Amino acid sequence: MQWWRDAVVYQIYVRSFSDADGDGIGDLDGIRSRLGYLELLGVDVLRLTPFYTSPMADHGYDVADPRDVDPVFGDLVTFDALVADAHKHGLRVTIDLVPNHTSSEHEWFRAALASTPGSPERARFHFRPGRGAGGMKPPNNWTSAFGGPAWTRVRDSTDGPGEWYLHLFTREQPDLNWTNPEVWADMEKTLRFWLDRGVDGFRIDVADGMSKPEDLPDMVAHDGPDPRFDHDGVHDVHRMIRAVVDHYPDAMVMGELGVRDGERFALYLRNDELHLGCRAVLADAPFAAERIREIVQQSLAAVSSVDATPTWAYSGHDLSRPVTRYGGGAGGVARARALALVMCALPGAVCLYNGDELGLPDVDLPDELLQDPLWSRCGRTERGRDAYRVPLPWEGGPPGYGFTSGAPWLPMPAEYGLASVAEQLEDTESTLSLFRRAIELRRAHGGVTDTTLEWFGAPEGCLAFRRSGSTLVCALNTSDVPVPLPPGDILLASGPLLDGDLLPPDTAAWLA
Ligand code: BGC
Repeated sequence: MQWWRDAVVYQIYVRSFSDADGDGIGDLDGIRSRLGYLELLGVDVLRLTPFYTSPMADHGYDVADPRDVDPVFGDLVTFDALVADAHKHGLRVTIDLVPNHTSSEHEWFRAALASTPGSPERARFHFRPGRGAGGMKPPNNWTSAFGGPAWTRVRDSTDGPGEWYLHLFTREQPDLNWTNPEVWADMEKTLRFWLDRGVDGFRIDVADGMSKPEDLPDMVAHDGPDPRFDHDGVHDVHRMIRAVVDHYPDAMVMGELGVRDGERFALYLRNDELHLGCRAVLADAPFAAERIREIVQQSLAAVSSVDATPTWAYSGHDLSRPVTRYGGGAGGVARARALALVMCALPGAVCLYNGDELGLPDVDLPDELLQDPLWSRCGRTERGRDAYRVPLPWEGGPPGYGFTSGAPWLPMPAEYGLASVAEQLEDTESTLSLFRRAIELRRAHGGVTDTTLEWFGAPEGCLAFRRSGSTLVCALNTSDVPVPLPPGDILLASGPLLDGDLLPPDTAAWLA
């Protein structure tokens, strides 16, 4: 069976994972120093967020050179050493690819600004004249995912008002024009550049973006189809990417997909497109068994329609951490632990986000320390994503908590020190120990390609299922009363069980 079909993928937010050179920012050597821990945790694959040359307007998702390492993270030599070492630890390495846009510092965009309307340089992006008198209005009404218009006007060669360019994210992230063969050629060059260095695959950022309707029509009513994403042309791009990746045996490509419609989602998983499609649909669910079951069934139905592999995630660098999402405090930790067990019992690939295994909460940062462009771009109405990007604690103290010997780029609260790897590693009841055990048991009961589940009858607010082809049963109690466990030997529980084989509220258990 292909390795990625039941892989546990561990997302490393490079900036916040481990800092080897003391500048307060995580780096590639820092990751390399933690490979022993990652092997101990039991994950199969690392997924590195962008570490490429970038002015960091969107902390690396604004790529100025997709074929080089930003000095703040290291260089190509340290990257090669990391990959080689990871492979020695039995860990595969996948990396984020950002094909929808470049940084405004990318040489292509600088050349586009220096050129004139209709030039080949501008044809690599989406430049359009404005509408209305003097072209004063944007070419259409599209908005940026970060708030504000998705268009920025540039000065023309006489320093007068000129054309507008499209950016679905920040103005520092101009969208690439994927009808342009130069863009395709450059992407192939980037794919091969990293595959030749031994990476085992990619996570495609904004995998439902890239292709735009030719006439860039206005967005209509909010509940109508969104012309900015999931345009049919995107599948040609994925077929091109997959054609290149297939030249490298065992390489895998996973797409980040915001598509919520099951049938549209399944199109990305046809056998000449993505191997895996990651939608953090479990993150959409409240902590309620009926809703969780519905989401699981919808996701399984969507992927089975194209005979693909399910992928599960309930967190990530764009999502509030589960502990906080489920209420924070001890209750939040209990629920996050319970849902982690449900997710790890499901067939397919599972994506964890660094720090999940420590049960970390979001951090309430003071306004003046927020750095996510989302905060400024949307007029300080949304606080952005820094709260769930605070560096990981490796030791109990002093501040820096083993993440860095310097000042962490975001302050780490004392409670992070109390939840550090060192504090949890030897504690058999810790969240870290629970994740280690779940990953170990999952592997023992995994290896089945059958992605169907057998659902048991369950009391109100509860669910229970067995993986077909496996003896693993998972039960979850999201109600507020203890319920009887299904029959079977108890393998693992996310919290203490009650006498008489009762499953308490906010708890999940595995049975054989
Ligand atoms: C990434 C975000 C990023 C955005 C623009 C998303 O898919 O996960 O972190 O801000 O794309 O690249």
